[in-house]
Order: sequence, then structure tokens, then C-alpha cells
Amino acid sequence: MKILEPITVKNVTFKNRVTIAPSHPYGYGPGPDHTFSDDNIDYYRRRLKNQNIGLLITQRMQVQSRDAGRGNFALISQDQKEKLKVLVDAAHENGTKIFAQIGFPSTGHHRHESVDFWRREDLKAIEEMHVHSARLAKEAGCDGVEIHGCNMFFLNLFNSPITNHRIDEYGGNLEGRLKLSENIIKGIKEFADDNFLIDYRMGWNSDLQTDIETAKKLEEFGIDIFHISYGVRESDRYMPFDFNPVIAYPGTTREKQIAPADYPYGDVVYTGAQIKKNLSIPVILVDEIWTYERGEKLLENGDGDFIAYSRPFMADPDFSTKSEVNPGYSNCLKCVECAWFSDFHKCPRVLQRGFDKA
Ligand SMILES: Cc1cc2nc3c(=O)[nH]c(=O)nc-3n(C[C@H](O)[C@H](O)[C@H](O)COP(=O)(O)O)c2cc1C
Ligand code: SF4
Repeated sequence: MKILEPITVKNVTFKNRVTIAPSHPYGYGPGPDHTFSDDNIDYYRRRLKNQNIGLLITQRMQVQSRDAGRGNFALISQDQKEKLKVLVDAAHENGTKIFAQIGFPSTGHHRHESVDFWRREDLKAIEEMHVHSARLAKEAGCDGVEIHGCNMFFLNLFNSPITNHRIDEYGGNLEGRLKLSENIIKGIKEFADDNFLIDYRMGWNSDLQTDIETAKKLEEFGIDIFHISYGVRESDRYMPFDFNPVIAYPGTTREKQIAPADYPYGDVVYTGAQIKKNLSIPVILVDEIWTYERGEKLLENGDGDFIAYSRPFMADPDFSTKSEVNPGYSNCLKCVECAWFSDFHKCPRVLQRGFDKA
């Protein structure tokens, strides 16, 4: 199967294309000072040991600790870096490459909050925070960094014409809206080398054409890997203020709006596949792919280069080995509200196998 074939990007060789998508297993809170807790590291160990995974992308780590929020981790200090290193070693012991996902704690996400009020000097500081966290990721031994520009969080709101109406250098047109991302990528490129890749997880920004144009710009700025996810879009613009992200996210309640009715995947995969036609760098596809069989079809079709799974790995730590035997294997029940967003003890699959094996 192609999904099990290696792929090399610059100097980094992934043993296969199976990717654990960035996923915060809420309930495994951070250790002191927003470091990774031992429990959380064990959660990953269970998903790496004796498994066959090419790439692990960590859950989002904040580039600043203020508003770090519910159970969030940060990557700012030496202590946080040292704890990340434990996770890096666990990944490498199992032959898995690891990217640290970094992002700014956005307060307005999921509400389409405008970014117009941010002061220029704040934005300069935020650029530096991202670059600093990426440097710590490299020092911790990560094989790359993933910039969080998706899921209606901070950079996604800047990239989208729906939420960015600024008239200064950080807005006005595509180049302006992407200025923040551009400066972050260029800052990281100053120390990144062929052994440390820059991956950008882009959320959709309003419509397909804008997404394609945005992705092309990100490639121009020098990212090495492109990862698609959901984001800000025109049709969701008038969501009620009390919109509940846990219920509306992820996936199962998102209606198909741009993919053709008979397309066997959702809008995120569809957008990623369209973008792939316009880029020359590798693309990571994700969202409701559920099985190796469905991932394999996308790879064979040339729609992407890596296949990422989030809930399937939450539902079953042995997802990769079982899928190698049975590519149609699927264990996640696709609950409307994924329990891992609040309390994983309520995940029906965890209830079945016991909390100690969560
Ligand atoms: C509990 C949970 C936590 C998540 N945390 C993150 C995160 O930290 N960063 C991120 O970019 N996406 C996060 N996601 C989104 C996933 O990476 C993924 O895009 C989404 O779940 C769809 O993939 P799936 O259908 O394989 O689950 C999270 C998803 C879940 C279910
Ligand atoms: S079975 Fe339900 S709670 Fe468990 S991972 Fe899947 S969607 Fe989440």
C-alpha cells in the first residue's frame, strides 16, 4: 500500500505516510507551568509503541502563556522544551518523525471575530513569539514545526477576508492578510535547515479560489509541507454568537458545501485535493478519512502525500497495526460530540477497553 511507503522531504525521511493529526486529548491536562504532563506523554507513547507511524504532529502548543486556556500547553520556556524533548525521544525510539504544532491563543475563534483591533506592535511581538517557539522545537530535536493557521484560530482569522478588514500592511489584499504568516515563516527559515521542516496547517479562508491563492503564497514564502484543515468560510459567517464549537466540530455536523454531492469525502479533503493540483510541495490530507482504505484511494489518486487521522487514534491506540491487517478497519463511532474535547472517559471506545488503556 502506498500509505506504507516512505517519503522524503529535504533530508527528512518518513517511514510511511501515516500521520497522527494534531489533537489535544483534553482531560490530560498540562504539567506545572503549561509543560507536557507525564499522563499526556504516556497517551502518545501508547499510540507510538509497536505501531507503524510516519509522522506525529503534536497538539497545539501556545507561543505565549497568557490566555493559555483550558489545559493548554506552551512552548516558550526551557522547561517546556525539556518536556517536549521527552516526547520527541519517544517518537524517535519508534522511528516516527515529530512536528511541534505552535499557535497563538486566539480568543475570537469560532466566532468569526475581526482582527482589525490588533495593534501593529502586538503583531510584531506575536511574530517573534512564533519564531521563538519554533526555535525551541528545533532545539528539542523535532523534525519540524507546524504553524497553526487553521480552525478559526488567530492566523486563520488574519488570512481570511471575512475577518480581516485592516487597511495597514497586515490587511487590504491577499499579501497584506498573509503578512503575519509570511513574517513568521521567514523568521523560522533563518534557522531552519534541511533537517527541520516548516509545515503550515491552513484553514479554509472564504472560498476555494482564495484558498488556492493563499496556499500558493504560503509555498512561495518557503514552507516545506502544506496541511489542510477547516476554517473560516462565507457560509458560516452568520453563526449565532453562542455557537457551540464542541457540537459543531469536528466534521460530523459540517455539511458538505463545496465538494460535489457524490464526492466520497468532505469539504476539507476536497479543498486539500484541489490545492494539491496547484502546489509542488507535499500535502497532508485529513478529516473524516476514517480508514487506511479511504486514505489509500486518495494517495493513489495523487490527491495528497500524507494521510492524517485524529479521532481514529483516539478511539483506538492500535489503529495503525489493526489497519495494516485490515485496511477497512474503523473503530471511531463518529459521535456528534467527540468526548475527547471534554472528558475522554466518556468516549464509548474508552469505556469499552478501560480507562487505564485510554
Ligand atoms: C479532541 C480533539 C482535539 C483536537 N486538537 C487539535 C489541535 O490541538 N490542533 C489542531 O490543529 N487540530 C486539532 N483537532 C482537529 C484534528 O487535527 C482533525 O483535523 C479533526 O479531528 C478531523 O480529523 P478526524 O476526522 O481524523 O478526526 C482536534 C480534534 C479533536 C477531535
Ligand atoms: S468514538 Fe466518539 S468519543 Fe470516541 S473518538 Fe470517536 S467520536 Fe470521539
